[in-house]
Amino acid sequence: MKNLKGKIVLITGATSGIGKASAYKFAELGCDLILAARREDRLEKISNELRTEYGIDVLTIRLDVQKYEDVKSKVDGLEGKWKKVYLLLNNAGLARGMASVKDGSVQDWNEMIDTNVKGLLYVSKSIIPLMLDNKEGHVINIGSIAGHEVYPNGNVYAGSKHAVDAITKSMRMELLDSPIRVSTIDPGLVETEFSVVRHRGVEDKAKLTYEGYTPLSPDDIAEAVIFAATRNDNFVVAEMIVFPKAQAGVRDVVRKV
Ligand SMILES: NC(=O)c1ccc[n+]([C@@H]2O[C@H](COP(=O)([O-])OP(=O)(O)OC[C@H]3O[C@@H](n4cnc5c(N)ncnc54)[C@H](OP(=O)(O)O)[C@@H]3O)[C@@H](O)[C@H]2O)c1
Repeated sequence: MKNLKGKIVLITGATSGIGKASAYKFAELGCDLILAARREDRLEKISNELRTEYGIDVLTIRLDVQKYEDVKSKVDGLEGKWKKVYLLLNNAGLARGMASVKDGSVQDWNEMIDTNVKGLLYVSKSIIPLMLDNKEGHVINIGSIAGHEVYPNGNVYAGSKHAVDAITKSMRMELLDSPIRVSTIDPGLVETEFSVVRHRGVEDKAKLTYEGYTPLSPDDIAEAVIFAATRNDNFVVAEMIVFPKAQAGVRDVVRKV
């Protein structure tokens, strides 16, 4: 098992759900963390807890991954040891709405594509050169089962996660001759703020997503991330699909209500 103590881990979308749970798991391993997201109050609270509980160094960056100039300037501004990013967890992402192509909102489409696809590209483009300078690194993308299968009214979200799958595979080929590993962890249904964001705070709709079965928890996915991150250098978790027991595919969920 690879020892990650003292390694720098950058997590996008660290203020909630899978990103936040992963931050705590990497902190347990003694990693120093760069936590990036838009909500600064949450970043502050989480980073203070992690410093106190685990004695690690934490740098917070207010970052909107949709904005290339923002990403580039924040990464260019990293100083000293913070430039030595060992692991990038490309986790920031979202779904907005559920509608057919005919009825869908152009604004929602743009937000999903700008965050899930372009955001992941912008952060990767900025961080990979630092890893190459450092001669070590690991990019872990959070994809989705929706990157392998589609469902009605999930058109653009599924399209964005199919793009993550394609980009991950291509990135792995491009970095084959380097020490950098590339992985994707592709969850099924995980109970986070994801559905509240998708349904714009309409709690009843969000709750329906997780009704009648036990969904995965953010900690479950964080454990999968840690498994991939702590393999020995010659062991690449290329792709890991993770379901709750009640799920067998993007539309195949047994609910007992
Ligand atoms: N939950 C599921 O069932 C599920 C299943 C498969 C895949 N996933 C994927 O898992 C990842 C994490 O989602 P989650 O379930 O943990 O949802 P979540 O609880 O809503 O967390 C999403 C995180 O992404 C950040 N984020 C969103 N837009 C951003 C932007 N423009 N710039 C920077 N950060 C941004 C949010 O932070 P701020 O709002 O503070 O910026 C938040 O920290 C996503 O890529 C999602 O597609 C989730």
